[in-house]
Amino acid sequence: MGKSSKYTAKYPDENGLIQYSDDEHLIWSELITRQLDIIQGRACQEFLDGLDILKLPQDHIPQSRDISKILMQRTGWVVEPVPALIGFQEFFTMLAERRFPAASFIRTRDEMEYLQEPDIFHEIFGHAAMLTHPAFADFTHAYGVAGLQASKADRVLLARLYWFTVEFGMVNTSTGLRVYGGGINSSPGEVVYALESKIPERRPFDPVTALRTPYRIDIFQSIYYLLNSLDDLYALAKTDLIGLIQRARQLGEFPPSFPAKEKTA
Ligand SMILES: [Fe+2]
Repeated sequence: MGKSSKYTAKYPDENGLIQYSDDEHLIWSELITRQLDIIQGRACQEFLDGLDILKLPQDHIPQSRDISKILMQRTGWVVEPVPALIGFQEFFTMLAERRFPAASFIRTRDEMEYLQEPDIFHEIFGHAAMLTHPAFADFTHAYGVAGLQASKADRVLLARLYWFTVEFGMVNTSTGLRVYGGGINSSPGEVVYALESKIPERRPFDPVTALRTPYRIDIFQSIYYLLNSLDDLYALAKTDLIGLIQRARQLGEFPPSFPAKEKTA
């Protein structure tokens, strides 16, 4: 957010449809085919159930309006195409109105493994499935409402809560650790790393602890937070998130658990 992108947004035509080239459809097809395979046994059951509900196409990029029809029936959410990068105010406003902002462009072939800004594959494959789940849907809405109430300084901390849940959250299950965060589930490398690498620290989720934890957006995460159940998000949705931010600020920030970003001249 706030930085420039090499990608440009695509806008819906008069019929509400976004046009993509054959090669862009092919890139989606390659991304989703590979990722569906990688997330087996790694994504949580609720995520897999969400994918079943959405019935995402594998041979072309889906349209937001088709995803929205299904989400609206389930949890009252829609996904709405937005430019590649939007500001905090618009971001929180949309979430508070159960409109999930979704970048509409798709990555180019030289960024199949990783790209820093979210593209439509990340948004739809990574996030839309979980928006079918009521606890996740309620929490994401409550997060948007809190964001609108938060000061500029509070928003910096609040962003961490989203980061360690919606983007990079994991959950303990009876069959082992699984992923629900869209940043992990849409990444071929990080979904394996998050679960199987010995490098990152995996901590029980506590909202105040997460709010005290700095992160970097351009590397695999050094810390993941684990829910005991996705239903924990119901309780979090009903919590005074602004009050939690104040507690986190009183307790102080944890030192970074990752190397400092190298400065470019
Ligand atoms: Fe995301």
